[in-house]
Amino acid sequence: MAARILDGKALAAQVRAAVKQEVAALSQRGIRPGLAVVLAGDNPASRVYVRNKVRACEETGVRSELYELPAAVSEEALLDRVLALNDDADVHGILVQLPLPKHINASKVLETVSPAKDIDGFHAANLGALVAGVPHMVPCTPAGVMRLLDHAGVQLAGARAVVIGRSNIVGKPLALLLLARDATVTVCHSKSRDLQDIARSADVLVAAVGRAKLVTGAMVKPGACVIDVGVNRLPDGSLCGDVDFAAASAVAAWITPVPGGVGPMTIAMLLENCVRAARTQI
Ligand code: GUN
Repeated sequence: MAARILDGKALAAQVRAAVKQEVAALSQRGIRPGLAVVLAGDNPASRVYVRNKVRACEETGVRSELYELPAAVSEEALLDRVLALNDDADVHGILVQLPLPKHINASKVLETVSPAKDIDGFHAANLGALVAGVPHMVPCTPAGVMRLLDHAGVQLAGARAVVIGRSNIVGKPLALLLLARDATVTVCHSKSRDLQDIARSADVLVAAVGRAKLVTGAMVKPGACVIDVGVNRLPDGSLCGDVDFAAASAVAAWITPVPGGVGPMTIAMLLENCVRAARTQI
C-alpha cells in the first residue's frame, strides 16, 4: 500500500494563519514582532531561503529587515552588525543565515546573538536548555519535524527513531527532541556501519544528510514514518530529497515529500519562534 503523504505545505499554512492572528493581537497592543535577517555572501541557495523567510514574515505581519553583506565582509563588521541588532528594541529575532563565508568563525557569530533573540535556537545557551530538557528556542527544522510527527499522530513513546545526519542544525537537536518524547533514538552518520540494517529497524526514520536518494526502499521498515529533510538539486535542475521517494513510499506508512514536506515547516517554526521571542521580550 502506498504511504500517506505528510503534507508540510498544508500544515505550515495552518501554523502561519495562527501566527498571523497572534501578530495582529500583539499589534493591537502596539507591539510588532520584528525579525532581522543577516545574509553574508552570495550563496544562491541561501538567497532563496532568505527570500522565502522574508516573504513569510510579510504575509504574517512580522516586520522584517534584511542585511545583505558582501562575501568579503570582515568578521568584525559582521559581529558589529549582530551587536547592534542585539541592542535594537524593535528587533525581537535575529537570524544569521548559514553557511557563512569560510574566513568567518561561524560559532563566534552565533554565540554573539543574544540568546533571547536567537530564533534559530543555535546559541549554546539554547542548545544547552534543550539538552537539559527545558527548551526555550528550539531550532526550526527539528521543531517542524516534531510538529509533522504529531500531526500524523505517530506514537513516539517507546518507538525506535533513527536520525541519519548529526548536524548541529538538524540531527543533534532532533535526536534530543525525540529522546524527550521517550523514543529510543539512534543517530547515524557517514562513518556508521550497517546503515541499512539500522535504518530498517526504525519506526521513525529521518534523513538529514544532503545526499540525493541515500535512503532506498530496502532501508525502510514496512509501516514506518519517513521524514525527508534533504533538499538536493539534481543535474536536470529538479529538487530531490535524501529519500528515494517512489521506493520508500511503497513501503512506509507515512512519508514527507520534497518539496512540500519539512521545508515549509521550517519557515513556519521560525515565525512561531519570532512571536515567542517578541512575547518574552515585552
Ligand atoms: N542554513 C540552512 N538552514 C538554516 C537554518 O535553519 N537557519 C539558518 N540561520 N541558516 C540555515
